[in-house]
Amino acid sequence: MPAIVAPVSSVRPAGYSAAQIALHWIMAAMVLFQVVMGENIGPAWKAFREGTTPAEADLFAANVHVAIGMGVFALAVIRLFLRVTHGAPPLPSGQSRLQTAIAHAVHGVLYLVILAMPVSGGAAWFGGVELAGTIHHFAKPVIVIAVALHVAGALVQHFVKKTDVLTRMLRPERSAA
Ligand code: HEM
Ligand code: HEM
Repeated sequence: MPAIVAPVSSVRPAGYSAAQIALHWIMAAMVLFQVVMGENIGPAWKAFREGTTPAEADLFAANVHVAIGMGVFALAVIRLFLRVTHGAPPLPSGQSRLQTAIAHAVHGVLYLVILAMPVSGGAAWFGGVELAGTIHHFAKPVIVIAVALHVAGALVQHFVKKTDVLTRMLRPERSAA
């Protein structure tokens, strides 16, 4: 069966490709920026809901948030395509079932973040869907917890368990595109 139609979990390369690694780190920076600077869209969002005109600086900050967020969505689509076609290396052996379950669950939440945050934000901003704005707003602590667990897991793997989990997200698998 060609890799492109194989289920995600059946594709098991030795490592991530250079494109997957570049996307991971560029998107990590974009998502962190969105989370740290997210509240800057607040004044313009409030002005639109109240039917008033936002200050120019507030509108600029809002446009930056919207543009970067939509960029995250575009890159997420490419990333998912690469995830299906190239796959991902298996987790290192010797992990407990609980650790494996947490790692997979956190990765799932992070994939959800890069897809659902732009969609909910877009529904609120372009479509005026209040509920989408509320969901978007309350997702912030979920993202912070998921990223904290994700980073802690990567650091424990590298410094305590001394596996290659962190280095394989830094150095591409040889011969991979
Ligand atoms: C904040 C935004 C971030 C997002 C959305 C994110 C997302 C993801 C996702 C979805 C995966 C799974 C890739 C796959 O196998 O399909 C992954 C893997 C990984 N991430 Fe992140 N990540 C972020 C930040 C970070 C940071 C700051 C670190 C630094 C320690 C990091 C280290 C790693 C490592 C080492 C892996 C590889 C895990 C493995 O090979 O099993 N990530 N990331
Ligand atoms: C990965 C993508 C995104 C992330 C991580 C993100 C994150 C955030 C955060 C942290 C806030 C502040 C929440 C708070 O008030 O505490 C926020 C607010 C907001 N964002 Fe995003 N955002 C993303 C994409 C987008 C996109 C693409 C749009 C629009 C097209 C958008 C529209 C909004 C709006 C309208 C608000 C104000 C909603 C409110 O706080 O009630 N976001 N975002």
